[in-house]
Amino acid sequence: APAPASTFFIFGASGDLTKRLLLPSLYNLAHEGVLADDFAIIGVDHVERSEEDYRAFLTDEIAKLPGSCDTSGETWRWLMSRIGYMAGDFEDPAAYGRIRERLDSRAQQTCNAVFYLAVAPRFFATISEQLGAAGLLKEETGFRHIVVEKPFGTDLPSARALNRRLLAIANERQIYRIDHFLGKETVQNMMALRFGNGIFEPIWSKEYIDHVQITAAETVTVEQRGGFYDTTGAMRDMVPNHMFQLLAMTAMEPPNSFDADAVRTEKTKVIEAIRHMRPNEAIGAAVRGQYRAGFVNGQPVKDYRAEKDVDPESRTETYVALKCFVDSWRWNGVPFYVRTGKALAKRRTEIAVQFKRAPGVLFSHLPTALKPNLMVIHVQPDEGVSLRFAAKVPGRKVRLSDVQMDFKYADYFKAAPSTGYETLIYDCLCGDPTLFQRADTIEAGWEAVEPILEAVAGGENDVQFYSAGSDGPAMSDVMLAQDGFQWLPLERDRTR
Ligand code: BG6
Repeated sequence: APAPASTFFIFGASGDLTKRLLLPSLYNLAHEGVLADDFAIIGVDHVERSEEDYRAFLTDEIAKLPGSCDTSGETWRWLMSRIGYMAGDFEDPAAYGRIRERLDSRAQQTCNAVFYLAVAPRFFATISEQLGAAGLLKEETGFRHIVVEKPFGTDLPSARALNRRLLAIANERQIYRIDHFLGKETVQNMMALRFGNGIFEPIWSKEYIDHVQITAAETVTVEQRGGFYDTTGAMRDMVPNHMFQLLAMTAMEPPNSFDADAVRTEKTKVIEAIRHMRPNEAIGAAVRGQYRAGFVNGQPVKDYRAEKDVDPESRTETYVALKCFVDSWRWNGVPFYVRTGKALAKRRTEIAVQFKRAPGVLFSHLPTALKPNLMVIHVQPDEGVSLRFAAKVPGRKVRLSDVQMDFKYADYFKAAPSTGYETLIYDCLCGDPTLFQRADTIEAGWEAVEPILEAVAGGENDVQFYSAGSDGPAMSDVMLAQDGFQWLPLERDRTR
């Protein structure tokens, strides 16, 4: 069904996020026919330019993106006829007066508005406060939603401060904090897999699950983002947000309903239950790595420290691995290992659930030990789910071998092109915050990593080096080996 009509203001209308993700996803939504006829987009940015000029700029920029939108087609024309532009300084109240006039002039048609802040994080609170002061967040004549993207703060105190400022001018229900991992089909599929099937949930607990490995491995380097990344690092960039969302989807209790808060409360409970390490534990249970020169997919990669805008003596991590425990009844004692990094051997985001072994009585005499059952949820690429189990090798002698059952989305479903943002934007237009982060979720994430950030700031837990194109630093393997486990190699078949 089409989303309710609204005016979609994009702050940071000329920025990277707008060009690379927002416009292509709005295009895909238009193509699907789920935007209301009376939908309008208004770009807001500091550059003085005419509306005409802005549309031409977007068309040029989008045409440069490989294979995203057909800028000569009907959908693009439909979208362009609904795009306007306003120049304005984000800190100038007059700009918000003009936004108000603009919205009022559309009022006979629609009064719903989304304010998408595709801007640097330092503007989140400022813009929201200005919107509030201009009376633009009052929901008297229609909904008013603010959308912001991570980073939500850089640690617990800054995240709390940001939440406090946002919640001083808007209700929690009006704030849509995006974690784009939740827009990924396979992440959403976790709920279908776990709660829509009779066979998985009964064994989804400490009684049957040995440990879980959550991986988000990237082959890309820091690319053009050296300046941002060097002050951020893999931990802040990925762990309290994306990685903990994957963990929450894996470990959450079944919600009572699909009501947004029912789902979000269960997820937040998981993140709140992540055991906080004491500073001395933060050394053994967290490994930080930084890439050195090497080859990724056959292409040479230089040292992280030689990247543009990176401190030549940087101790920032481009890889991090953590051992987490979720202190809940269901997960008592089950380790959740989490790793993420850049310039690694393979791009692979997945959740691997390793089950306990069957009692050894019957097959323990066999020459090769059987591998434990393993279920892997492949988030990207090659979305799907695979399962490893043992089968008898044909022949008169009893021999067992590991085999794999493999479901791939692409084999069953033909999905429309997607950036992952379509669902999120559509949900925001429809007023469904299920896939967005609540203030308490964000704070729980920062709280869990705070001891490690403190240990790092205190000069403990130094970075270990790894070669670009490898699976990460050796210490990370040691961390698992101490528990008798091994990371699944990044370069491998699905479960083997
Ligand atoms: C972003 C991080 O939030 O997520 C990036 O800032 C990272 O550093 C990206 O590369 C990964 O997202 P995806 O969708 O490519 O897995």
